[in-house]
Amino acid sequence: MNSEILKTQFRQQAQGALSLYIAFIGVTGSLFTTLYRLRSATAPALAEAARLDAGYVIRWCDAAYAFGYLEAEGDTFNLTSTGEAMRPEAPDSLMPMAVQSVLSAHMAERAAGLLQSGERPGEAVLAERATVLPWFGPMLEVGFGSMFENTICPAIPAFLEVDARGGLVLDLGCGNGWYLCVLARHYRHLRGLGLDGFAENVAQADARARTEGFVGRLHFEQGDIHDFTLQEPADLIAMNRALHHVWERDRAGIFAWLHDNLKPGGYAVIWEPAWPTVRSALRDPSRRALSFQNLSEHIQGNHLLQPGEIVAAFVEQGMQTQVYRFADDNEAVIVARR
Ligand SMILES: C[S@@+](CC[C@H](N)C(=O)[O-])C[C@H]1O[C@@H](n2cnc3c(N)ncnc32)[C@H](O)[C@@H]1O
Repeated sequence: MNSEILKTQFRQQAQGALSLYIAFIGVTGSLFTTLYRLRSATAPALAEAARLDAGYVIRWCDAAYAFGYLEAEGDTFNLTSTGEAMRPEAPDSLMPMAVQSVLSAHMAERAAGLLQSGERPGEAVLAERATVLPWFGPMLEVGFGSMFENTICPAIPAFLEVDARGGLVLDLGCGNGWYLCVLARHYRHLRGLGLDGFAENVAQADARARTEGFVGRLHFEQGDIHDFTLQEPADLIAMNRALHHVWERDRAGIFAWLHDNLKPGGYAVIWEPAWPTVRSALRDPSRRALSFQNLSEHIQGNHLLQPGEIVAAFVEQGMQTQVYRFADDNEAVIVARR
């Protein structure tokens, strides 16, 4: 391919990234949400309503107009349908794409800086951007919540069984607590305990449990999975996109802990992005982002896992496993029974 064609191709791709950067500013500054409420506004009026600096908001409005998030009549702006869909509150919101794009830019910059030393700073890199951290939980919730609720929950009988005996579900690495809230909404008897390392996530989870009226049934704690003591054995231990965070440091210890902290007959339900067994599968457009994620996981001291590796670790504990695949095989849920 000649270089002019390549430049045109990369310019188009770069515009996709710029469009998401503009959206990120609109999401984190509540600009989409505020303009939706106002219906239409000049840039200074939008800035005042959102309590932001008018100078920045004037420039943002021009950029959001250029990328098709806003329509304009004279100096008055309103949201286009794409702008409306970017609101975090919109049904099936596009917000996760905007947050992911800026998080990815941050991770790319960190990886470039760490290439030589080989240093792996760990989970802390997620907290390095003050505007990104509060959106990490909501990004995952909007990105995966409906798949869990509509596809995964009905496919896994263990939830129903645990609910029938009013059992305890422990969610290790619970993020903003969305998973336990979905379970509490669908199954009326089970109880939940969520653990996460980030105070920001636990605060969001607590607030959500209060708003949804689950205060007596769901509890959230800040703590480290590696040295957590559970007061009573669990009926089900869930880890969603969390196992790969603890695997490299202590694979054997974690699986022994899961086994020992489940009641006999209890379940571990592990949801992980499925790292493919052959490299050529990464070329599939639906898996390219996974390859980038694995690079940013490396910075955090992690790597993505093949479902077969997880099954083998449970088999070492003498547990029976069943693997469920979703989203064109890109998502795997491994259910293991003690
Ligand atoms: C990719 S996020 C998934 C969050 C949540 N399970 C979800 O599905 O939205 C991984 C989570 O694991 C938490 N985590 C990672 N290592 C941890 C550890 N050692 N102890 C406690 N939490 C940890 C992180 O803070 C983060 O919230």
